[in-house]
Amino acid sequence: MEKIFGLIGLTVSHSFSKSYFDEKFFREGFRDYRYELFPLKNISDLETLIKETKGLTGLNVTIPYKEDVMKYLNEVDPAAQRIGAVNVIKFKEGKRIGFNTDSEAFRETLEKWLPKDKTFQALILGTGGSSKAVQEALKKLKIDFRVASRDKAKGDYSYEDINKNHEIITSSHLIINTTPLGMSPNNDSLPPIDYEHTTKDHYVYDLIYNPARTLFLQKAEMRGATIKNGLEMLHVQAEKSWQIWNN
Ligand SMILES: NC(=O)c1ccc[n+]([C@@H]2O[C@H](COP(=O)([O-])OP(=O)(O)OC[C@H]3O[C@@H](n4cnc5c(N)ncnc54)[C@H](OP(=O)(O)O)[C@@H]3O)[C@@H](O)[C@H]2O)c1
Repeated sequence: MEKIFGLIGLTVSHSFSKSYFDEKFFREGFRDYRYELFPLKNISDLETLIKETKGLTGLNVTIPYKEDVMKYLNEVDPAAQRIGAVNVIKFKEGKRIGFNTDSEAFRETLEKWLPKDKTFQALILGTGGSSKAVQEALKKLKIDFRVASRDKAKGDYSYEDINKNHEIITSSHLIINTTPLGMSPNNDSLPPIDYEHTTKDHYVYDLIYNPARTLFLQKAEMRGATIKNGLEMLHVQAEKSWQIWNN
């Protein structure tokens, strides 16, 4: 029987997940497996999708539903529960079970990328589902961090705070963008921080991978920072999703 996998989110056309799994299924000979894009106007539409999709085996979850999807699940794995966000759903024996592979994927890629002989103070931009996964990863790596939000009540700093006090950027040698600012097709937008204070000592990681070099990364790179986009993280989290669906 055909097995269906896919991605749910508000807009999913920007995603590389489908081409990743299409190629994987072709390469590994899974001829009855399909990976589909399922844009949902509202997360409550998930109920209809599940009812109407025969053979549905696994889903990835993207912006902005990683937190709201949790109330539609029967079980949530303890790590995803602790993080407070789900990006993988497995359908097993009539149950919907939630997992988080973003956090470990981010941790693994960050650990490989950062120099081992330096200590970092990190600044995370955004407070949504992937920010929570990043926070969990930094805790595991014992990297001290602060969080920026448009709403000061949700984070440690507002963007106004950051731009009033340059120390925040100069002392945060690891800056991570977990907002959708700069993601295709809105390539012209970028987080509103003062890029003049980024230097060659900064490591700047954008979870966005489409485009490959967001304006956020370009501005930091122009000042000598070392940059990384979210493509490797996407591949690592996709492989971890695959292991969960097949376990
Ligand atoms: N590479 C990967 O594998 C990978 C994995 C996960 C996510 N991502 C990418 O990460 C991004 C965020 O995904 P997500 O699932 O975490 O989304 P999300 O749950 O909607 O969270 C995004 C957060 O960004 C902030 N934000 C949203 N719109 C903003 C705006 N106009 N200006 C400033 N801040 C804004 C918000 O935080 P505040 O309200 O606190 O400001 C929001 O909570 C997306 O681009 C997604 O594709 C990539």
